[in-house]
Amino acid sequence: MKSKALIELLSDGQVHSGAALAEKLGVSRTAIWKQIRRAMDEGADIATIRGRGYQLVSRVDLLDPAAVLDGIASGREEELALTVLDEVDSTNAEVIRQITAGTRGIPVVMADCQTSGRGRRGRVWQSPRGENLYLSMGLTFHGGFGVLDGLSLVLGVAVANALERLGVPEVGLKWPNDIFLPNGKLGGILVELQGELEEGVVQVIAGIGLNVHMSRAEGVDQPWSSLARACPNVDWSRNQIAGAIIDAVLDAVPLFSDVGFADFREPWQRRDIFMGKPLQARGGDVEGVGCGIDDAGNYQIRTQTGTVPVRAGEISLRVVS
Ligand code: BTN
Repeated sequence: MKSKALIELLSDGQVHSGAALAEKLGVSRTAIWKQIRRAMDEGADIATIRGRGYQLVSRVDLLDPAAVLDGIASGREEELALTVLDEVDSTNAEVIRQITAGTRGIPVVMADCQTSGRGRRGRVWQSPRGENLYLSMGLTFHGGFGVLDGLSLVLGVAVANALERLGVPEVGLKWPNDIFLPNGKLGGILVELQGELEEGVVQVIAGIGLNVHMSRAEGVDQPWSSLARACPNVDWSRNQIAGAIIDAVLDAVPLFSDVGFADFREPWQRRDIFMGKPLQARGGDVEGVGCGIDDAGNYQIRTQTGTVPVRAGEISLRVVS
C-alpha cells in the first residue's frame, strides 16, 4: 500500500487534520489529499469530516512483522527469516529467490497482495490487497524426495490445528490439501520443490493462501468462504493468524521428519470432508464412496469391486450427488 504510513497514522480511528498529517509525514497538505484519494481507491474507507480532517471508518488489518513474531513460541522466532512485503509476484517465488540467494534461517514470506499468486495445477490464486493471508515458508528435509510422501497433508493438518486454536469451528480438509469450512473453500496449500542443492537435502516451499476478510471474489469458480464470513463477530488479525500457522507448521515438521506421515493420518482423517460421500475420480471411471486415506496419504474410494487408491495430482475428486 503506497499510503501505508498514512493509514498507520489514521488507524487509531480518531479525526486527524490534513495539516497534522502533513507535518507528521513531512509532506504538503496537497500530498496528503492525494494519498487519501489513493488509499480510498485501494479500498480504505476514509471519511472527510468538514473543517476537521480525515477519519478511518473501517478497521484496517495491516501486516506487521513484530505482531506476527508475537504469535510464535518463544525462542523459535530466532530460527526464522521473516519478510513482510507490500506487494510481490508470489510469496512462493520470493522464498525460492531467498533460498537461491542463500538466506540464513527458515525463509518465511508474507505479502499484502500478490500480482501472480499461484494455485495448484497451474491455476491463478486471486490475491486482493489487504484481504487475505498469503504466506510461504521454505522448509528443509534430509533424505531425498522420498521422505516427502504425505507432507502436503501434514501441512493441511497444521493449518487446521492453528485455525482451531484460534477458535474457528468445523474446519475440514479436502484431499489433498484444501482447507474447508461448511460453506466452501477457505484456503489452499501449494507445495513446490527445489532441486537437491546438496546430496539428499530437499527444499520444500509451502505456500498457504487463506481467505480472511474477503467478502467478494471475482473469477472464483467454486463455493468459497472466509474467516470474516464464517465468524463475523471476530476481529480477525492476519498477523495473529500467520503467527499461529507458522507455529503449527514448526510443530508439525520435526514430527513428520522423525516419524513420517503415520501420526498425522488420524488428525487428517477426522477432518476429511469426503468421508462417506459419493465420489468419482479419473473422469468418472472410478465411482464409489470416500473412505479416507491410506498410510501413504493416497485417497481411497470404496467401489463395488473394492477399494481404489488415487494419487495426488492424478485426479480431482468430485462429489457427484
Ligand atoms: C490451491 O490452489 O488451493 C493452492 C493455493 C495456494 C496459494 C498460496 S498464497 C501464498 C502462496 N503463494 C502463491 O503464489 N501461492 C501460495
